[in-house]
Amino acid sequence: MCGIVGYIGERECSFLLLDGLKRLEYRGYDSAGMAVISNGKIDFHRSQGKLYNLEGLLRSKPIKGKVGIGHTRWATHGAPSEKNAHPHVVGSVAIVHNGIIENYLLLKRELIKRGACFLSETDTEVIAQLVYFYHQEGLNLEEAVRKAISRLKGSFAFLALSSKEPERLIAIRKESPLIIGLGKGEYFVASDAPALLPYTKRVIFMKDGQMAILSRGGLELKDFSGTPVPFQAVDLPWSPLMAEKAGYKHFMQKEIFEQPRAISDTVRPHIDLDKVEIFFEEFQITPNELREIEKIWFIACGTSWHAGLVGKYMFEKLCRIPVEVDLASEFRYRDPIINKNMLLIPISQSGETADTLGGLRKGKASGAKSLGICNVLGSTLSRECDCVIYTHAGPEIGVASTKAFTTQIALLYLLALYLASILNKIDLERKRAYLLDLLKLSGQINTILEHAQDIERLASKYKWARNFLYLGRGIYYPIALEGALKLKEISYIHAEAYAAGEMKHGPIALIDEDMPVMILAPKGETYTKVLGNMEEVISRRGKIIAVTEKDCREVKEKAKDTIFIPSTNPFLKTILLTIPLQLFAYYTAVFRGTDVDQPRNLAKSVTVE
Ligand code: F6R
Repeated sequence: MCGIVGYIGERECSFLLLDGLKRLEYRGYDSAGMAVISNGKIDFHRSQGKLYNLEGLLRSKPIKGKVGIGHTRWATHGAPSEKNAHPHVVGSVAIVHNGIIENYLLLKRELIKRGACFLSETDTEVIAQLVYFYHQEGLNLEEAVRKAISRLKGSFAFLALSSKEPERLIAIRKESPLIIGLGKGEYFVASDAPALLPYTKRVIFMKDGQMAILSRGGLELKDFSGTPVPFQAVDLPWSPLMAEKAGYKHFMQKEIFEQPRAISDTVRPHIDLDKVEIFFEEFQITPNELREIEKIWFIACGTSWHAGLVGKYMFEKLCRIPVEVDLASEFRYRDPIINKNMLLIPISQSGETADTLGGLRKGKASGAKSLGICNVLGSTLSRECDCVIYTHAGPEIGVASTKAFTTQIALLYLLALYLASILNKIDLERKRAYLLDLLKLSGQINTILEHAQDIERLASKYKWARNFLYLGRGIYYPIALEGALKLKEISYIHAEAYAAGEMKHGPIALIDEDMPVMILAPKGETYTKVLGNMEEVISRRGKIIAVTEKDCREVKEKAKDTIFIPSTNPFLKTILLTIPLQLFAYYTAVFRGTDVDQPRNLAKSVTVE
């Protein structure tokens, strides 16, 4: 949801900033721009569309300088266009911004009355106008920025430059992420770690309400009142290679194929198989407190919400504890009945999703304990939860979430087993068997990935379908939701998921010979019911693609096409079923020629409501 980068140091920075923007392009890609202080003046380029347009501009008209800021945009206020792209430059001041200024209209009116001339439709331009206004009145850049932010309402991370103070870069963070990378005599700033990885692993995660004043000689961190605040640098746990495509055509493809590693990195450190023990060092909630928990409440958005739905089945079945799952955007504006004996589990890959953070704050204010599941170290979610457990998926750059989802499920499975043991709901032998299943999982995923070409062939067969239905029952219903979401977001085929038993209550009317139906039909409690649902589809001439297990002869007989997964326990089958659905969506999108890693209208982390 917009990516921002900044640099101050001894290097020529325009292509360095461009490289950072390329690594953040997943956050927004409808326009881009950069401003550099060049011979005491602000020199800048902006362009509509993808970053290669900006790159083209930079190559034809290079801009030189060693202090600069850059931006890749996901439009909120004002259509994607050159004039709405950042940086917004007003006189000596240039600003790039991620977030939303809620009171921008009021401020805009006030500034126009004072003679300001606005050139864009964005909320961001008020920041540039305000800073310029105060700067003109005689305040230095730091003071002008401080005065401007005292007027702003909303969420914002922004970077400010002034040609009057060419040796300074100012970074502000309020409810939108910002990280400072520390080099030798140089500083980097970015919305997210992948932009910094090629240059430094040593970083400071800025906190809300902080301002950083960067010059070649040093760094000062202050609160919004101007009081210096202490800070601590940490090392990022990711290597630069993790944020590269490593020979794959797309990040999404790489991330699908990385899942065996990602899952094992996520769960292995928590398991002692000899002692049949699961441990979470990060846990700040004592076993006694856990025993008092009356309800678990998952909140999340999109794919992470689907992981929460799977979690509900696991925790109810294994721990016999009531579980609610809410879309964070609904939860935060309802009046949910929460108390201190509830465990709120926000799930988020990025840890920056505005609605999930809003839900977390609401739950905490009502006294609930909070345990975050998150993939990004130092993210807002990880800092605001009472404790956090990380999925070690590594940076997820493809906009469509893949490895984050399966690592979330794997971690929830482990957490459910952990809680079930504390609550004495599981005996040692069953626990050992479940742990062994988990340790076998990466190998089983590899077996599916080895047959990716079969799924590619299927995608080629169905690539021109206009609609798709996805059906699943019980714990596999959320996987149907996830499969349909993957297909629609990257291939733009309309896909809907239903709990298979619900089909006859309406969606069955949609079925005809042009409607392919993806049915999740592994063995288990609902197997025979799903066979019945398949018959209902067949008798209406729908074409079935079934994902099932090798010995499910009946499914193979009924389906037009069949994809097989290895057998495991029902909880982990959710992960195995997900892999073919991810591959199917991926190859379909490739055949249709869409932009797989950066599908239209989407952004990786949704930091606005
Ligand atoms: C879909 C997808 C989104 C995210 C959602 C939540 O492929 O990626 O639906 O799952 O925006 O994001 P996080 O998990 O970062 O909170």
